[in-house]
Amino acid sequence: IVDVKGGPNEGLDRVGQMIVVAGWVRTLRAQSSVTFIEVNDGSCLSNMQCVMTSDAEGYDQVKSGLITTGASIWIQGNVVPSQGSKQKVELKVNKIVLVGKSDPSYPIQKKRVSREFLRTKAHLRPRTNTFGAVARVRNALAYATHKFFQENGFIWISSPIITASDCEGAGEQFCVTTLIPSSREAAESPVDAIPKTKDGLIDWSQDFFEKPAFLTVSGQLNAETYATALSNVYTFGPTFRAENSNTSRHLAEFWMIEPELAFADLKDDMACATAYLQYVVRYILDNCKEDMDFFNTWIEKGIIDRLSTVAERDFVQLSYTDAIELLIKAKKKFEFPVKWGCDLQSEHERYLTEEAFGGCPVIVSDYPKEIKAFYMRQNDDGRTVAAMDMLVPQIGELIGGSQREERLEYLEGRLDELKLNRDSYWWYLDLRHYGSVPHAGFGLGFERLVQFATGVENIRDAIPFPRTPGSVEF
Ligand code: 4AD
Ligand code: MG
Repeated sequence: IVDVKGGPNEGLDRVGQMIVVAGWVRTLRAQSSVTFIEVNDGSCLSNMQCVMTSDAEGYDQVKSGLITTGASIWIQGNVVPSQGSKQKVELKVNKIVLVGKSDPSYPIQKKRVSREFLRTKAHLRPRTNTFGAVARVRNALAYATHKFFQENGFIWISSPIITASDCEGAGEQFCVTTLIPSSREAAESPVDAIPKTKDGLIDWSQDFFEKPAFLTVSGQLNAETYATALSNVYTFGPTFRAENSNTSRHLAEFWMIEPELAFADLKDDMACATAYLQYVVRYILDNCKEDMDFFNTWIEKGIIDRLSTVAERDFVQLSYTDAIELLIKAKKKFEFPVKWGCDLQSEHERYLTEEAFGGCPVIVSDYPKEIKAFYMRQNDDGRTVAAMDMLVPQIGELIGGSQREERLEYLEGRLDELKLNRDSYWWYLDLRHYGSVPHAGFGLGFERLVQFATGVENIRDAIPFPRTPGSVEF
């Protein structure tokens, strides 16, 4: 459909051609002498309006009511100028074939259905306008991400999904254990098949890795090893957090984009994050016009203007200390009171970007070391680290990054202070033994970017199959 209707004159150049459309019926309207079928194949938001009279081959299937909303069909016809005002061209059907019929219980009939309801139908929701558009824009953002980094000389690396370390040190990991194959069938529940000691504890010596392993919370530490060999690299893959946060911006499984820059400091890191965000936003405005218009009308009025501004303007940059001062002076009552040393809550982040700076993305830097991870480079003041978060309207934190501690003695000191075991970080410390280099990077939550770019309010609608506390299905 996009091949025909997506061109500069919306299909008029294809008039007179015979084409085939294969897709799913969105609506079917039978009048006395003609039947209108709206078909969508997911290639674009537009349906193809197919006009059919009784002389078309296969018409009996339409007449007998076999073809209904949700059915998959194959249609051959001629492209003709449309009589209607909604589209430039339509299809005059010669032949229709029912590929798979749809039971009348099909839950996504024409009437508008809520996004909450659609979350319970995650296997069928991509057939709606909203989820089709989100999927296409998500795809475009992924493509633009690779394009941006590739064009700028970054090398994509795969960081492992199973790991032994906790990059963020927040203890929000999912543990990976082995099920013993022989007992798996016998076991009523998988838990019974986890190797255990006599006392009922997990017997790690019998486990696959012979020690606890986890799903990664971030590929950063692994990315650092490649950045200190290949210079600029990036990862783009799934990450996992057992954060018990039932919010509209947290998932247990989300995708992260993590560039790591060698011979670079925090300023370079901020510049990269800004250029990246502006590039991908510009990319979807230029390449996903129909879907963006749809979001602009149905999901968030004004999103195109909002994103166009983001793609052009300079972002605000201020230190954590200045941000705290601003929040203290704000005439707003926050649920979480603000003082120097506190972690910024989403209400504070949103105040900064939405109210204090009128919707402009804000980069806050130099946070207290106590609220940040062990690997961040310590500033000369002894109490802050070279960290930066990028905050955007509606979402709050979109990006978290930092310059990394490249000085061995500082890094070891910090591990000791935090009572982290130096031995478990032997390979990470090695990078500071052998040719250490100033380096910096950031992580961007891909689903938060999808939210930001489409206006969908809930992160559960920004990923095909959301994983949240108490919910794993599909
Ligand atoms: O700020 P975070 O925790 O930073 C890191 O993991 C660093 N190791 C990244 C790096 O420097 N390479 O996470 C980075 C971003 C956040 O800004 C947020 O956008 C997203 O990941 N994020 C989540 N997105 C969805 N659901 C969650 N539970 C998320 N937790 C973090
Ligand atoms: Mg963060």
